[in-house]
Parts: sequence; structure tokens; C-alpha cells
Amino acid sequence: MATRHEIIEKNMGLMMVLIIVVISIGGLVLVVPLFFMHSTTTPVVGVKPYSALRLTGRDVYVREGCALCHSQMIRPFRAETERYGHYSLAGEFVYDRPFLWGSKRTGPDLHRVGGRYSSEWHRVHLINPRDVVPESIMPSYPWLETTPANSADIERKMIVLRKLGAPYTDEEIEEAPDSLHGKTEMDALIAYLQELGTAVKIRR
Ligand code: HEC
Repeated sequence: MATRHEIIEKNMGLMMVLIIVVISIGGLVLVVPLFFMHSTTTPVVGVKPYSALRLTGRDVYVREGCALCHSQMIRPFRAETERYGHYSLAGEFVYDRPFLWGSKRTGPDLHRVGGRYSSEWHRVHLINPRDVVPESIMPSYPWLETTPANSADIERKMIVLRKLGAPYTDEEIEEAPDSLHGKTEMDALIAYLQELGTAVKIRR
């Protein structure tokens, strides 16, 4: 008579189902606590939801694929903290949807680039990186300067983010389209970059 073990070993379908069950339990044990741990669900003191302008800049960052060359995740190693500043904390990303941690560093990590350069530096750098860093291989993004910031769906975006936990007030949502009036995609992207990682005050 076949043992129970043999029955499983000789039945691929059943074996696959049981493997999936066992692996899911392992996965859930790792993942579920993160949804309840204070350090991953509570914003670090000073972290605020993105303003309409910065949110728009963040979307430009996503669209242009900046995350393909730049990470936003400083690891807790001395080589990283000496170069980029305090390592990234989980509570700094609670309003980030989607996360832009990235996995490739063709360019430097940008998580604490906020305030490191003047906004004018960023403008020149984004129009043509070679003007400020002659050896740069970063692409140029001149069209950002002439493209108006998209305000058509900003209210809807903020309402969705509010459903997901960002504490926007009705007033902030109502004023959003006006706050983008006359701004370019360049203004929005620079506003986003200039506040990156600035909530945590411990530096270098
Ligand atoms: C093909 C890869 C690549 C892409 C795509 C890219 N970058 Fe870069 N970036 C680099 C490299 C390489 C450097 C370092 C040389 C320099 O400063 O130009 C850099 C530097 C930077 C710096 C200066 C960082 C510092 O600490 O000195 C900023 C800010 C920056 N990039 C922003 C952006 C933004 C915003 C985008 C998207 C619009 C972007 N990058 C897209 C490769 C890239």
C-alpha cells in the first residue's frame, strides 16, 4: 500500500499545491508583521504627504525613468552613510506610492539629495548635465523646461492617495490645480528633488 508520502510524490498537481501552501506560509510570516510594525507604518517625525507640486514632479521622475539609474535607498553601511548621509528609514517612505527605491546605481543615490544643490544647479544639470559635470553620462531633459505641469488629474490622484492613507485635507485637494498654475514640469521635478530625504535632520 502506498504511504501518504508516496501519494504526494507521485501526484505532481497535489505536490505543487502543497509546495505553494508551504512557501506562502513562509512568505506571510515574513511579510505580514511589516504591516503592523510601528517602525514601518508610522511616518518619521517631519515626513509629510507630497504637495501637489512635488507629487507632479514625482510623476515626472517616474515617467522619465530616473529610477532606472538612481536608487533612493541608503543602506546602513559606513561607505554609504559617509557619502550620502543618514541611512534611509522605513518610516520615511510611508507616503511613497509606488516606492522608488530602485536597484541600479548608474548615478548616485538620490534619497538625501534635497538641499544639496541649489535649484538653479538642478535646472542647468537637467537641461544638460555636461554643463555642470563635464564627464556626466546622464541624459539631458530639456523638454521639462517648456512642458507645463499636468494639473488635469491632480485632484483625482490626491483623492486616491488619501484613500490609501495620505492625510490630505479637502482644502489641499481643492487648491491643488491652482498651485500648479504656471509651473513647468521642471519646477515640479526640482521641487520634488529639493525635499527628498530632508525630513530626517541627522546628517553626515
Ligand atoms: C542613464 C542613467 C541616468 C538617468 C536615466 C538619470 N540619471 Fe541622474 N545621474 C546619472 C549619473 C551618471 C550621474 C552622475 C554625474 C552627474 O552628476 O551628472 C547623475 C547625477 C544626478 C544628480 C546629482 C546627484 C548628486 O548627488 O550629485 C541628480 C540630482 C540627478 N542625477 C537626477 C536625475 C533625474 C531627476 C533623472 C530623471 C529625470 C535622472 N537623474 C536620470 C545617471 C542618470
